[in-house]
Amino acid sequence: MLGSRIRDVPDYPKPGIVFKDITPLLADPAAFRVMTGEFARQARESGATKVVGLEARGFILAAPVAVAAQIGFIPVRKAGKLPGAVHAVSYALEYGEATLEIHRDSFVPGDRVLIVDDVLATGGTAAAAVEAIRRCGAEPVGLSVLMELGFLGGRGRLALDSPSLPVTALLTV
Ligand code: PRP
Ligand code: MG
Repeated sequence: MLGSRIRDVPDYPKPGIVFKDITPLLADPAAFRVMTGEFARQARESGATKVVGLEARGFILAAPVAVAAQIGFIPVRKAGKLPGAVHAVSYALEYGEATLEIHRDSFVPGDRVLIVDDVLATGGTAAAAVEAIRRCGAEPVGLSVLMELGFLGGRGRLALDSPSLPVTALLTV
């Protein structure tokens, strides 16, 4: 049901890439509810006390999970967007580098954090988020994504630094 709401867009953002467009799923309230309910169940089962969403598409998925699971939402943002003191973690892109930031005071002692994003591809984004959360002194207890692009090896990349972190994908391509 969720898979049928994801649209393949060939040659975007460049020739040869098939972009996985989640906007039809977001526009379908039944599908959005199913996805949110599944993530919220994972939050409860992992004992998460906070949910982290990764800018930008991860924000859309993670915010309703926080409401459904009745836990706080914490943003991990692209560099330069958060006003307070941050921890910054850089990660590799296909060409160059990007940086994610999180407020240093995002958590209280003992917080357990579920990370939610739309896609796990190479794993660079998720690995940077895991590191940022750990630098804040909190414990990542899971990564939940809508879609895993298995052929890009993100799960293995994450396992290098976080062998015991549960990684859950609702769909695998
Ligand atoms: C996309 C996607 C994931 C990330 C996965 O984010 O939303 O967050 O790439 O790729 P990776 O596993 O290879 O790191 P991107 O920053 O491109 O765009 P967004 O701001 O629209 O979320
Ligand atoms: Mg993203």
